[in-house]
Amino acid sequence: MSRNRIARTWAERSSVGRRLSSRFVAGMTVEAALRAAEAVNREGIAVSLDSLGEGVTDAGQAHRSASVYHRLIDEIGQRGLNANVSVKLSQMGMEFDPELAEAIVAGIVAHADEAGNFVRLDMEGSAYTEATVGMTERLHGRWPGRVGTVLQAYLHRTADDAARLVGQGIRIRLCKGAYQEPAAIAFAEKADVDENYTRLMFYLATSGVFCGMATHDEAIIQSMCAFIEENELPKSLFEFQMLYGVRRDLQRRLASQGYGVRVYIPFGAEWYPYFMRRLAERPANVLFLAKNLLRS
Ligand code: FDA
Repeated sequence: MSRNRIARTWAERSSVGRRLSSRFVAGMTVEAALRAAEAVNREGIAVSLDSLGEGVTDAGQAHRSASVYHRLIDEIGQRGLNANVSVKLSQMGMEFDPELAEAIVAGIVAHADEAGNFVRLDMEGSAYTEATVGMTERLHGRWPGRVGTVLQAYLHRTADDAARLVGQGIRIRLCKGAYQEPAAIAFAEKADVDENYTRLMFYLATSGVFCGMATHDEAIIQSMCAFIEENELPKSLFEFQMLYGVRRDLQRRLASQGYGVRVYIPFGAEWYPYFMRRLAERPANVLFLAKNLLRS
C-alpha cells in the first residue's frame, strides 16, 4: 500500500486523509511543525524535524526540499528551539543524481554548522545503506560533529557499520528498521532484531560517542536504564528518541526521570509513505484508521 500511487494521491489530497495523518504527522506547514516543536520543548523534550518527502525525481524538487530545511535551521535558531533536523537522501535527489544529492546535503550541513546545529541523515532502504554511511563520513570529515546517521538493527551489516562510524566519532541513531528487506541481508524474526538491537545499544552506550536510542520498545528501554545504572554510566552519554504521536506517556516519564529524550516530528503534505510505515509496524494502528474512516 505504501507504494500505491492512486491511494497516495487520494489520501494526501482528501480532508479525511489529512485528518487521519494527524495521528503521526504534526501538520502540513513549517509553522505547524515549529508550533509542535515548541510544545514538545516545553515538556523538557528535544526535537528532530523532518520535512516529509522522499524519492524526488528532478533537481528542482530536490532544491525545493532543501530550501525547507534551510528555513527550518534559521527558524530553530531564531526561536531558540531545542531541535535539529532529519533529512532523507532520496528527498535530495539521491535516486537520480548522487552527486547533486551530496552537494545539496553538504549545503544543509554547512548551514547547520554556522548555526551551531546538527543534521541527521535518516536511513532508507538497503539500496542506500552504503551510500548513506559513506556520505555521512565525508560530511563529518568536513564538518565534524555536525552530521550523523541512522543504523538499523535488522540489517546483518549493522554491527560493522556501528564500529566503523563510532571509530570516527560519528553520532548514530539506532533504530530497528522500517523497510522490507530480504532475508539474505536482514534478520527476519522480530526476536532476532530485538536481540541485535539490545546488543548494539549496549555497545553504543559504552562507545564514548553520544548516540540516540530510537525505539518505543519498553522492555528494551528498561534494559537500557538498568544497564546505565548497573555500570554507573552517566545518562548524558545518550538520549532516547521516539516518534511524534507514539508513546507520549513514556516520553514524558523518561524525561521526568532525567533521561535525554528527543521526539522526531514529521510534517508536510507528502505524509503518505511515512504514515503507511507507521501503520505497518503496528496492526492496532490499522484498527484505529478503520474506526476513524467509519466515523467520517
Ligand atoms: P517495535 O516495533 O517492536 O514496537 C515496540 C512497541 O512500541 C509497540 O509494542 C508499541 O507499543 C510501540 N510502537 C511502535 N511503533 C508504533 C507505532 N507506529 N504506533 C504506535 N505504537 C508503536 N527507521 C528507519 O528504517 N530509518 C530511520 O531513519 C528511522 N528513524 C527513526 C527515528 C526515530 C526517532 C524512531 C523512534 C524510529 C525511527 N525509525 C526509522 C523507525 C524504526 O525503525 C521502527 O520502525 C519503529 O521505531 C518501530 O520500532 P520500535 O523500536 O518502536 O519497536
